[in-house]
Amino acid sequence: ARGLLRPADLAGETVLVTAGPTREEIDPVRYISNYSSGKMGYAIAAAAARRGARVLLVSGPTCLPRPAVAEFIPVTSAVEMRDAVMNRVGEAGMVFKAAAVADYRPIRRAERKIKKGAGEAPLLELERNPDILAELGELNGSRLLIGFAAETDQLVAHAAAKLKAKNLDLIVANDVTREGAGFDVETNIVRLLYRDGRNLELPQMSKTALADRLLDEALEIKRQRSE
Ligand code: CTP
Ligand code: CA
Repeated sequence: ARGLLRPADLAGETVLVTAGPTREEIDPVRYISNYSSGKMGYAIAAAAARRGARVLLVSGPTCLPRPAVAEFIPVTSAVEMRDAVMNRVGEAGMVFKAAAVADYRPIRRAERKIKKGAGEAPLLELERNPDILAELGELNGSRLLIGFAAETDQLVAHAAAKLKAKNLDLIVANDVTREGAGFDVETNIVRLLYRDGRNLELPQMSKTALADRLLDEALEIKRQRSE
């Protein structure tokens, strides 16, 4: 009901959101992935749509119901996510990169199920996936780029390094080891790091409330820029 009181302050804006994990296939029955549920990204997508934005949601595999967005673009692997994002980013004035992208993928996917043999255990050989957010950071334009950093230690140092390396406007950092934060829970405890060096810890809040707060932050950064 609270959402209904908000003005459509994102009307005319196209917001690209990535959410969920990626899956990197080993063979037809196995993959490498991570614990991302997609909840944070879906909450942002739903909140932006509620506030009048045209939302493009690029989503890895999740168990969540599809939110009411203009376009839902399902992907599986990091490479597919990169292609989807690069195809559509030109339309977006804001990007929220909430997806947990697998950093590595198996160098090859076996055509058939790998059978356990009598000999040595197989070694899984991996190669780097593209860093989608870093690629976005290299594009020109006035588009707002918001990244996420899930850390287990040295939260501020690690997140600040990512903010700089990927040329972001804002990074949303959370310590996944804290209770009430991180993967597959309804709330989050995050620290916001801005490009100008400011950093602000937000109290624990629902991912829905945080989604609206992050959209407020994005609008505020845009306003400051146009001054
Ligand atoms: N990201 C991305 N593409 C990748 C890896 C990460 O777009 N291949 C994005 C994530 O969506 C997130 C941000 O980069 O918004 C930070 O992701 P994270 O995994 O925390 O950082 P990495 O740069 O991958 O560093 P590391 O995993 O070593 O901490
Ligand atoms: Ca990573």
